[in-house]
Amino acid sequence: MRAHVAAAACLAALLALRPAVSFSGGDDTVTAGEQLYVLCSGCHAPTWNRTGPRHCGLAGRRAGSLADFDYTPAMKNADIIWTRESLDEFLRAPLTMVPGTSMAFAGMPDARERDQLITFLLQLTDKHPLCR
Ligand code: HEC
Repeated sequence: MRAHVAAAACLAALLALRPAVSFSGGDDTVTAGEQLYVLCSGCHAPTWNRTGPRHCGLAGRRAGSLADFDYTPAMKNADIIWTRESLDEFLRAPLTMVPGTSMAFAGMPDARERDQLITFLLQLTDKHPLCR
């Protein structure tokens, strides 16, 4: 509950800052990425496992490594560390990068949208209000 209040306060602060940062990247990229997360939220949430594994702590995580999620062997054995570069390749065409993955998502062809979404995903560390 407290985390939600903090998240709301943080969002309000971000919104208040928006005119100052205008369209020059930074916060606007994160905001756009967070909006694009609707493409994922049918199966994923930041903090808990759904059809897909949670995304908090994704940056630097080894693919298929959450102990409490039942991955396919394809994902477990993919030998990928999630970084901006690997996420970009994966989200462009998941089944091409990880043949046999059960992630039923065709991919995001738009490089700018991938960039925005990945910027949001990489913020989901234990410092992010959604992940505390
Ligand atoms: C139809 C459901 C579905 C959708 C939509 C979906 N995913 Fe997934 N995702 C999964 C499943 C299931 C897995 C586990 C795949 C496996 O074990 O092969 C997964 C795995 C992942 C992983 C690997 C995580 C890890 O712990 O190694 C990442 C990263 C990921 N998804 C990102 C995304 C993003 C970003 C989106 C939105 C653009 C998205 N997914 C959309 C179902 C989905």
